[in-house]
Amino acid sequence: MTTEEIIALTEEYVLPTYSRLPIAAVRGEGCYLYDADGNEYLDFIGGIAVASQGHCHPKVVAAIQKQAEELIHCSNLFHIPSQALLAQKLCLASGMKKAFFCNSGAEANEAAIKLARKWGKLNKSGATEIIVAAHSFHGRTMGALSATAQSKYQKDFMPLVPGFREVPFGDLEALTQAVGPQTLAVMLEPLQGEGGVHPAPAGYLEAVRRLTEKENVLLIFDEVQTGFGRTGKMFACQHYGVKPDILTLAKALGSGVPIGAMLAGSKVAGSFAPGDHASTYGGNPLATAAALTAFEVISEGLVQQAARVGEYFKKQLNSLKEKWPTVQEVRGLGLLLGVELSVPAAPFVAAARERGLLILTAGEKVLRFLPPLTITEHEVDKAMAILEEAFSVCCK
Ligand SMILES: Cc1ncc(COP(=O)(O)O)c(C=O)c1O
Repeated sequence: MTTEEIIALTEEYVLPTYSRLPIAAVRGEGCYLYDADGNEYLDFIGGIAVASQGHCHPKVVAAIQKQAEELIHCSNLFHIPSQALLAQKLCLASGMKKAFFCNSGAEANEAAIKLARKWGKLNKSGATEIIVAAHSFHGRTMGALSATAQSKYQKDFMPLVPGFREVPFGDLEALTQAVGPQTLAVMLEPLQGEGGVHPAPAGYLEAVRRLTEKENVLLIFDEVQTGFGRTGKMFACQHYGVKPDILTLAKALGSGVPIGAMLAGSKVAGSFAPGDHASTYGGNPLATAAALTAFEVISEGLVQQAARVGEYFKKQLNSLKEKWPTVQEVRGLGLLLGVELSVPAAPFVAAARERGLLILTAGEKVLRFLPPLTITEHEVDKAMAILEEAFSVCCK
């Protein structure tokens, strides 16, 4: 099929919930994506922080092939070796105690909300409120959407799930004021991705941990976007030396095979019993075999590479500031970087795409970069040359 045919078919039969790029993606290799017309793109979207291992990493492909020949699915009525091994690896890497597997980031957050409520029912009767941060993003299912404090996503889908309260991100005083006997949990992204690439301010998460411990309130970190080396540590919370009670993961976990995980720390791991939560596909043999290998690939130096190349990339992005007054600020950690502009970001994204570089926005005025963690300084230089051109065109 040609690109035109694919786009026409999509428009006819797929519900229009996405603003799609005019590209039909058919192949990926490392940090490059190829379209149906054979065009090559340097991919700094990476499937929205999913292809951290690079597209179609040979080890991940081989693991999927091998598992597909042995057993694709059996249900959680059975013990699944790759699921057990993955749970062990995730718990050891994060300091959590037990894992629940599902199929996406939103589902991981749904599981976190349910686990928090069950813990509350058993241990803190009457406390059902979860405090979330302004500009957060936790997913599109009703619970996750209710935790997502952005009215543009919520306004057409009222009534929301009750029990969520919003405070400004990074404002310890506001959070301290909001915590009361009704508070069950605080749910945060250590670095807000979709909300504009905002890392937690220095000292904030540490203080939130102290506060939640003092008040017997759970701390939930959503690391769906920031997990698996993306920020230059295995988990973004490790930049701050803070361990939550619940950690949610997805995206790079399966390198593109749909899988999410909710990890429970010692305080909450005993709260779920059989029947409390479930997912037919969650943690199935195919997804967990892929994720086990995806984890192994990340562990082979990609976390350190994300830190090193991310630092280099950030420096290059900062240099744009000297030339283009449109650039207000460069933010982020590792290879989750954002450039705040004084003007809408969409024309810059389009100009970069026309020149072979795929990048994202985060809100109206922020350019967001989420390349595979396999990129080197060489690819950063290539991307910067394209960005320079895009700025020349858009800032004329
Ligand atoms: C921090 C965060 N949480 C949750 C989600 C939702 O994940 P999914 O789209 O897999 O449901 C996202 C997606 O972008 C995210 O960035």
